[in-house]
Amino acid sequence: MKKIGIIGIGKLGLCFALNLEKAGFEVYGVDVSEEYVNNINNKKINSPEPFVNEMLESSSRFFASTKTDFILKNNITDVFVMVATPSLADGTYNHSQIEKVTDELISFGIEQKPVNLYIGCTTMPGYCNLLAEKMKPFGYTVSYNPEFIAQGNIIHDQQYPDQVLIGDADKETGDKLESIYRKMVKNNPVYCRMDSLSAEITKLATNCFLTTKISFANSIGDLAIKSGADYEKIIQAIGADSRIGKKYLNYGFGFGGPCFPRDNRALDAFAKKQDYPLLISEATDEVNKKHLEFQVQRYLEKYAINEPIEFDYVSYKKGSVIIEESQQLALAVKLAKAGRKVIVNDREEVKEEVEKKYPGLFEFP
Ligand SMILES: NC(=O)c1ccc[n+]([C@@H]2O[C@H](COP(=O)([O-])OP(=O)(O)OC[C@H]3O[C@@H](n4cnc5c(N)ncnc54)[C@H](O)[C@@H]3O)[C@@H](O)[C@H]2O)c1
Repeated sequence: MKKIGIIGIGKLGLCFALNLEKAGFEVYGVDVSEEYVNNINNKKINSPEPFVNEMLESSSRFFASTKTDFILKNNITDVFVMVATPSLADGTYNHSQIEKVTDELISFGIEQKPVNLYIGCTTMPGYCNLLAEKMKPFGYTVSYNPEFIAQGNIIHDQQYPDQVLIGDADKETGDKLESIYRKMVKNNPVYCRMDSLSAEITKLATNCFLTTKISFANSIGDLAIKSGADYEKIIQAIGADSRIGKKYLNYGFGFGGPCFPRDNRALDAFAKKQDYPLLISEATDEVNKKHLEFQVQRYLEKYAINEPIEFDYVSYKKGSVIIEESQQLALAVKLAKAGRKVIVNDREEVKEEVEKKYPGLFEFP
């Protein structure tokens, strides 16, 4: 039975571990919290991600530990790293969790059999090459392998990816990684193989394109509304052109959540370091802000001064519990701060988080 290691079994890593386990791999996961790891081993997780609880419950080849050497002691040579890479104020990513993991691996000494690290975290372009140099003397290869998934659909998106992006350390390692995916996925994705720098740029650029598409639809929609035209019909017609496509081309709230805004900004931060500021990424971000102001005005005009304004959700997308960079919530906040009575109707956990962040600003049914 092929063994796989995963360091960082949070939102992304846990789903990946379960998908690999279901595909027949023996999976060894590492995370920092004793309680969390015990809960995984006792199959007591309460994840909001569809299928996770059931898949964990029925799993028989997934083992978790708080000790990183758990992976090396089990002679595992394919290790995914899926720790968090939070954004810094300048838009770049903080790689300190990856550094901590790899420093720890180094502290165990030089590996005799080469160990392949597959970095699933979102990293700044160029980082994986630096990491590869750091790890090489200790018997590790470093490849970049990010995921294109949406929260709330992670298990499914990992099983049915459009593309598997592999920034490989070398051909042999890339082939190995590709063969792991071929066993796991349930469709026939395009395997995009390249060097890790190109793959790091591809990951950010893909999300930048999607944010561009969203901002484009919203700005054309705003223009249509301002000039008295039919925004829905316009956007539908644009999306009907197969060169453009209708996915992510809808008029609505701006883009938000834990991935799109930060990947867009990170690409711009990288571009600035290359002395090539990425105007498209900056414009997309600006349009998102402008669109929010447009929506505020529209709501203020649409609702009478004493009329309550009700939001059926304020998470960054319907059905999610995440409020990070939610444009719906940003709109609700601006309306409430403008003196309007705003009613927030969302899941209990979202309402609690919103109340904690903005005490007394909203009413909850
Ligand atoms: N969740 C998503 O939708 C998504 C989508 C695309 C890319 N990503 C990227 O994937 C990466 C992981 O994201 P996530 O959402 O799963 O983050 P997360 O915070 O949910 O999970 C990271 C996990 O790593 C663990 N961890 C931290 N330090 C560790 C250490 N030293 N040893 C072992 N475990 C450690 C944390 O305890 C946590 O459980 C990030 O780089 C993110 O940008 C996430």
